[in-house]
Amino acid sequence: MSRKKIIAGNWKMNVKPSETAALVKAIAEATAAYADKVEIVCCTPAIDVLEAVAAAKGTTIGVGTENCHWEDHGAFTGEISTGMIVDTGATYVITGHSERRQYFGETDETVNKRTTAAIKAGLTCMMCVGETLDEREADLVNEVIGRQLKVGLKGLTANDAAKLVIAYEPVWAIGTGKTATPAQAQQVHAFIRETLAKLFGEATAETIRIQYGGSMKPGNAAELLAQKDIDGGLIGGAALKAADFAGIISAAANAK
Ligand code: PGA
Repeated sequence: MSRKKIIAGNWKMNVKPSETAALVKAIAEATAAYADKVEIVCCTPAIDVLEAVAAAKGTTIGVGTENCHWEDHGAFTGEISTGMIVDTGATYVITGHSERRQYFGETDETVNKRTTAAIKAGLTCMMCVGETLDEREADLVNEVIGRQLKVGLKGLTANDAAKLVIAYEPVWAIGTGKTATPAQAQQVHAFIRETLAKLFGEATAETIRIQYGGSMKPGNAAELLAQKDIDGGLIGGAALKAADFAGIISAAANAK
């Protein structure tokens, strides 16, 4: 089964609206040669998303946000609905990022509500899972990831899985310069696929892309992306410079 590689940037709180068009255009230019081989996405702060969609017009770059709420509208100060995201022309969203879990009280249950809303709205949803260093050292990786998947994906069907991407991001590797070794990452990716097979059936699990995230950069992308169950990357720091992001995308285009 060949799954199209998906490389998504997660800009976090790093790019202003006035800087957005230039970065999207630089990324489009630097990655044009790989556009048919790799699905390329920029997930931006909500306030940048209109600029990003406008700048990506006429390119194959997809645009998304870093979060969404589960309600359609209402008194939820500071939140954005999936309907609002769709209205901008953006087509992707990240849910359950570890920074949301760590700093903003996100739980497996709220991740489930956000992921469900995103998929029902027709957005492609990159749902993040990952263990902390303490959990890894206590040998709890499978337990934690298994729970995040089962609760996070509760109620979704095999049909819904067509719009689902899972991002495995070991919390200890995010923004730290520490990367999981390709073997460590592959082991967890294989476990994620097994769990997806239990939830949605084996055939569907084979179609779901699983990204690795956590200090992925041009220098380590090729060996990570060469692993059987690593189908892409969710990139923080290295997504902020077009040349670095393009280096990762080129590795994805050349991966088997
Ligand atoms: P990083 O972030 O590439 O800067 O480690 C990845 C992420 O948090 O999505």
